[in-house]
Amino acid sequence: MNLVFLGPPGAGKGTMAGRLADDLGIPHISTGDMFRAAMANETELGLKAKAIMAAGDLVPDELTIAMVKERLSEADAQKGYILDGFPRTIPQAEALDGFATIEKAVRFDVERDILIKRLSGRRVHKPSGRIYHVEFSPPKVEGKDDETGEELIQREDDKEDSIRNRLKVYDDQTAPLIDYYEGKGNLVTIDAAPAPDEVFGELKRVLA
Ligand code: AP5
Repeated sequence: MNLVFLGPPGAGKGTMAGRLADDLGIPHISTGDMFRAAMANETELGLKAKAIMAAGDLVPDELTIAMVKERLSEADAQKGYILDGFPRTIPQAEALDGFATIEKAVRFDVERDILIKRLSGRRVHKPSGRIYHVEFSPPKVEGKDDETGEELIQREDDKEDSIRNRLKVYDDQTAPLIDYYEGKGNLVTIDAAPAPDEVFGELKRVLA
């Protein structure tokens, strides 16, 4: 199954994509994680993306599309995948249609005040990408990853100014994709406001 997860920052796309990928045995492909890995490795792409991401703006379409196209050609993506954070603009969606067939686009619907709470309390384990929240999904030991005991960090773009800009960028550039996928007849919307187990249950129901 080839899926697109669509929704504003903090809607829970990464959290649910991680769980569903484990469940279905298909890769979770997050463009945000790929850019963060490129930054950590100080590749040319990472250096280009660094300031753009910290401000909460979008990395140029041509770089993003080329990165995803290459990733989808890898062996593990041939049995299906979950795209998390891509496409994010209409040109990205049109380009994706040229090299992939998307069966469903899942829209994560959450009110704005919940998004802000989720983003400002998010903590991540950088090497694995595991996601926590200080209140809603706390680690067993405060500030430490459950599996390795290593430090958790706050993402650079989870600071207040950047959050505000990311939400605006979502409204301006990504929200139009809701109509795009609705027009194709493969959009499903889930209420992503409840607790994680409930959201995961609904996700599995709409995909069944
Ligand atoms: P990216 O990494 O994709 O970030 P995002 O889309 O802004 O999404 P987030 O990761 O912030 O939110 P999420 O919906 O995954 O929520 P999460 O599960 O973590 O992109 C970052 C940047 O990279 C972009 O700004 C851009 O610069 C660049 N980029 C990426 N893709 C690009 C593209 N295609 N084109 C151009 N540029 C691109 O959950 C959030 C928090 O809530 C966590 O703490 C979690 O524990 C908690 N939580 C989750 N679900 C629940 C729940 N049900 N109840 C309570 N708490 C919950």
